[in-house]
Amino acid sequence: MTAPLRQGESIVVQVALAERSYGIVIGRGLLASLGDRIRALRPGARVAVVTDETVARHHLPACEAALKSAAVEASSIVVPEGEGSKSYTGFERVCEAIIAARIERGDLVIALGGGVIGDLAGFAAASVRRGVDFVQVPTTLLAQVDSSVGGKTGINSRHGKNLIGAFHQPVMVLADTALLDTLPRRQFAAGYAEVAKYGLLGDAAFFSWLEANWQDVFSGGPAREHAIAVCCRAKAAIVARDERETGERALLNLGHTFGHALEAGAGFSDRLLHGEAVALGMALAFEFSARKGLTAAADAERVRAHLAAAGLPTQMTDIPGGAPGPDELMDLIAQDKKVKRGTLTFILVRGIGQAFIANDVDPGEVRAFLADKLAQR
Ligand SMILES: NC(=O)c1ccc[n+]([C@@H]2O[C@H](COP(=O)([O-])OP(=O)(O)OC[C@H]3O[C@@H](n4cnc5c(N)ncnc54)[C@H](O)[C@@H]3O)[C@@H](O)[C@H]2O)c1
Ligand SMILES: [Zn+2]
Repeated sequence: MTAPLRQGESIVVQVALAERSYGIVIGRGLLASLGDRIRALRPGARVAVVTDETVARHHLPACEAALKSAAVEASSIVVPEGEGSKSYTGFERVCEAIIAARIERGDLVIALGGGVIGDLAGFAAASVRRGVDFVQVPTTLLAQVDSSVGGKTGINSRHGKNLIGAFHQPVMVLADTALLDTLPRRQFAAGYAEVAKYGLLGDAAFFSWLEANWQDVFSGGPAREHAIAVCCRAKAAIVARDERETGERALLNLGHTFGHALEAGAGFSDRLLHGEAVALGMALAFEFSARKGLTAAADAERVRAHLAAAGLPTQMTDIPGGAPGPDELMDLIAQDKKVKRGTLTFILVRGIGQAFIANDVDPGEVRAFLADKLAQR
């Protein structure tokens, strides 16, 4: 880890994937350079900007101005905000609009938004004309540290989230940290859970740094760029080694097995945002690991205290309206995870920064743990 960079400098993180390699550019105020960067990357290309209504209100005019100043021919496609747009209807709308905007091979789709827009626009780009290139301009913290990097794109099925999709890597990611200034604090905190995740899964020094600097990350000081760069470097390294999640990439799911079950139990509603569920899921993964004697109880408490300080839920009682019962949670975990020969796969920890893939977790032990947690009122 290096000292935080001075304000105004941009940081470039490379995602090394042979001919599909690309750079993630991170810095405050970068949106203004979007047009010039597109021109340099793809001279003469026309672009279609896909965004949602809320992001359009805050940031589309500046995005359009940046493209116009570099004489990049652009059209905009605005969809309703929220997970509902990651649907067949949303997908159809965006694909048809990209075609109507005469985006051809060699042109670019730009995803200007959070994870919903990145997943939707990325999947549309992967599909139209059997694949056009796209650029990610992530506008949520979650998207800047997680969803815009790594090439997973897709929409939801009635059978579950993200069940229809493709691996389609962007050709550039432009993370303007100033765009996060308009993000509601609750959404910022939810994204922060994924930031803390990188420390917890593989970088204890980064977690300690976050404990000391998290307020500066929230308030938009130089610590924000540094934290985002550390996360992107970690994700880029993991993705470069395991693009299609046959192994190590699964470590990024720390907190996500418990988290997804709780998120599903809350009906994927505003009661529990994804990052909030992940925060609670990570607290549970540490506690469960401590209970199995894999990590110290003090580590689990340290993790819980930090996430709680950042305003994230860390106890079952923190879920508005309450958590589902242990049997319902176990059903949800079984739906999310393939149960192989009676055992579950979990990401567990041997300490802060030491996550590992455990393939042999006994469902009975998980149920007993959850029942105890739910009984604590
Ligand atoms: N592809 C991946 O690897 C990956 C990884 C993690 C999550 N995801 C997906 O990401 C999605 C969640 O992403 P998200 O949390 O960014 O949600 P989101 O895209 O719905 O954004 C959250 C909310 O913030 C608003 N918003 C976005 N940027 C804003 C800004 N700068 N100022 C003010 N408001 C802003 C949006 O309009 C929305 O209401 C889920 O669909 C999830 O499945 C994908
Ligand atoms: Zn996540």
